[in-house]
Amino acid sequence: RRIDWTPMMAEKGGYKHFMHKEIHEQPRAIADTLRGRMLLSEGDVHFDTWNLSLEQVKSFTKVTILACGTSWHSGVAGKHMIESLARLPVEVELASEFRYRDPIVEKSHLVIAISQSGETADTLGAFKEAKRLGAHTLAICNVIGSAMTRESDLHILTNAGPEIGVASTKAFTTQLVTLYLLAVKLGRMRGTLSVEGAQEHLTQLAQVPKMIEDVLKCEPQVKRVAREFMNAQDFLFLGRGPMHPVALEGALKLKEISYIHAEGYAGGEMKHGPIALIDEKMPVVVIAPKHPHVAYEKIIGNIEEVRARGGKVIAVIDEDDTQADTLADHVIRIPAASALLAPVVATIPLQLLAYHVAEMRGNDVDQPRNLAKSVTVE
Ligand code: G6P
Repeated sequence: RRIDWTPMMAEKGGYKHFMHKEIHEQPRAIADTLRGRMLLSEGDVHFDTWNLSLEQVKSFTKVTILACGTSWHSGVAGKHMIESLARLPVEVELASEFRYRDPIVEKSHLVIAISQSGETADTLGAFKEAKRLGAHTLAICNVIGSAMTRESDLHILTNAGPEIGVASTKAFTTQLVTLYLLAVKLGRMRGTLSVEGAQEHLTQLAQVPKMIEDVLKCEPQVKRVAREFMNAQDFLFLGRGPMHPVALEGALKLKEISYIHAEGYAGGEMKHGPIALIDEKMPVVVIAPKHPHVAYEKIIGNIEEVRARGGKVIAVIDEDDTQADTLADHVIRIPAASALLAPVVATIPLQLLAYHVAEMRGNDVDQPRNLAKSVTVE
């Protein structure tokens, strides 16, 4: 019997690229992130590294999240989770900016570094600076034993498994889920979340791996969209509330691997600039699951504004949505999730869109030009 597989292909599990494999690994990766951490009957979260006392957690006055690139986007989503469940103000900072100004850091601040590699020079530098200034430090990383896990007072692993593709996929969604677990944990300890409230959140979290399996079935539809727009020069991604970081991440994925110029914007800001760019050549991806937090009616308004200018709308919507359906040129349906979990689900079609556009353009998906998996220089 002839063997057609090279050892490299075997590692890719039959996929042409690591990125594609890693996109499809997400149900398992997220299940691994959740495993052993959800205490459903107690309405609590268990991290085996956890070392913060009740007193410490209650004394926190602020959370600062430091990160770069895709990890910074998960921080923006994490802000929504922590503020909503633990009622702690959260600031999300680009690590490369934080280090070089005169940041306000106090002993009552919890500083969280988010990094897939745990080695990004800017994030590590900012994190060390925050520690030097007296903050309590927590690292959320994917690599065991990485510099950030060693530098921190506390670390939590995302358990995504090795990520080889330069464009981050499963590391991002597992960061989101880890931040959600952390928000529940902080909410319970601070008393802003009841046992029943936490149980409700954990029950929803437990459904995420299955939801990701379901949303991956949108791939044929995403491929059709990719084929239609693979030669576009620019893309705009719009989202509101917790969908704003999803728009940022969708745009980043596309530019990283397809080399198409893309911008992610908060929907409400479209009228302050990007609307000037819209014409019949401009595809606009609108992330519009139905939630009050996401200002659904307003995002429908964005869709109408794009259409009125001849722009092409690709709407990512809930599976039972009938309103956006009639307005958009293309719809990609995703299983309905709560507002805080929708970012995990809604990111998947955008990863697939970037992947297929890049693949159709013949690009080196796993090794995009000028980019490195881990940037250990400043
Ligand atoms: C590089 C990678 C990105 C990543 C960023 C931060 O630019 O290409 O995919 O988001 O670094 O990396 P980190 O390991 O800190 O999450």
